[in-house]
Amino acid sequence: MKPNTASLLTLALLGCGTIFWNGCSDSTSSSTGGSAKSDPKERGFTIGMSQCNLGEPWRVQMNEDVRNAAAKRPNLKVVFKDAQNDTLKQRSHVEEFISSKVDLLLISPKEAQPLTEPVTKAMEAGIPVIVLDRALLGDKFTCFIGANNKKIGKAAGEWVVKSLGGHGNVVELMGLQTSTPGQDRHSGFLEGIAESEIKIIFSADMKWLEPDARKEMESALSRFDKIDLVYGHNDPGAHGAYLAAKAAGRTGIKFVGIDALPQEGVAYVNQGILDATLQYPTGGAEAIDAALKILKGESVPKEIVLGTRLFEKSNVARGGEELK
Ligand code: FRU
Repeated sequence: MKPNTASLLTLALLGCGTIFWNGCSDSTSSSTGGSAKSDPKERGFTIGMSQCNLGEPWRVQMNEDVRNAAAKRPNLKVVFKDAQNDTLKQRSHVEEFISSKVDLLLISPKEAQPLTEPVTKAMEAGIPVIVLDRALLGDKFTCFIGANNKKIGKAAGEWVVKSLGGHGNVVELMGLQTSTPGQDRHSGFLEGIAESEIKIIFSADMKWLEPDARKEMESALSRFDKIDLVYGHNDPGAHGAYLAAKAAGRTGIKFVGIDALPQEGVAYVNQGILDATLQYPTGGAEAIDAALKILKGESVPKEIVLGTRLFEKSNVARGGEELK
């Protein structure tokens, strides 16, 4: 049965902690609200969204994009769970979504290998799965949505070659190396600088976290007098490095990041903190589009690749430039 206005009002009055149609949801609830299971078309659809972490602004934005897109669809409920950067917790969240028989699982996994098994179990239980941004191993999922991290890493490398005139000392602060964007942003970067005399003099896994990036940069600064540029696999990482350099009174270092949220990386470029950032779209809205198609029995591509843009001082005012 479709929720009528009175029932929606009652739910709204209950606060954002129980069942919510039209996308409003609860970050901790572990059930689909106890509604009797019936024909999904009549009761609406429940999507379980397993987010690996909400510590970075980019992931908060991803949830927001999912929530806003879902809010436009009648009869769609999204239940959010935040694993707080804990792989085991994210595995249990997936298991909980399987037990509560969500109609579809949306997951942005922390790490590829350990999340592959629970997602395979969801598929075996007949629950379609959309994987967002970080990939899993193998092909036991319905659809993957994300930008091409290898291409982004390569573009970052080419930008660095151009901006340093083909040679210089680079610090690379890498995203979690057990996650696919971290691996691809590294290998893509190596391709981008391959024909140059750019040297990576220091590299460390800062696990996508700004405080870790800051600490790693402090070590790099204490070991090397000449650092020309820092390539951070995300904007929090590049920003952490910038803060470390600033605190140490080191100038003349360029900083490049990835993500380009308007309120984060793009703002940093505007403020002269970062020299460039490459956009990494969250895919939240595209995930809801694909989810609805799957729930209606329509087919979707196995992989949906999102576009990206480069922001630097010269183009930031006009919204960056699309990467071909
Ligand atoms: C947030 C984040 C982003 C990055 C993405 C990669 O957790 O680190 O900054 O682009 O994850 O999966």
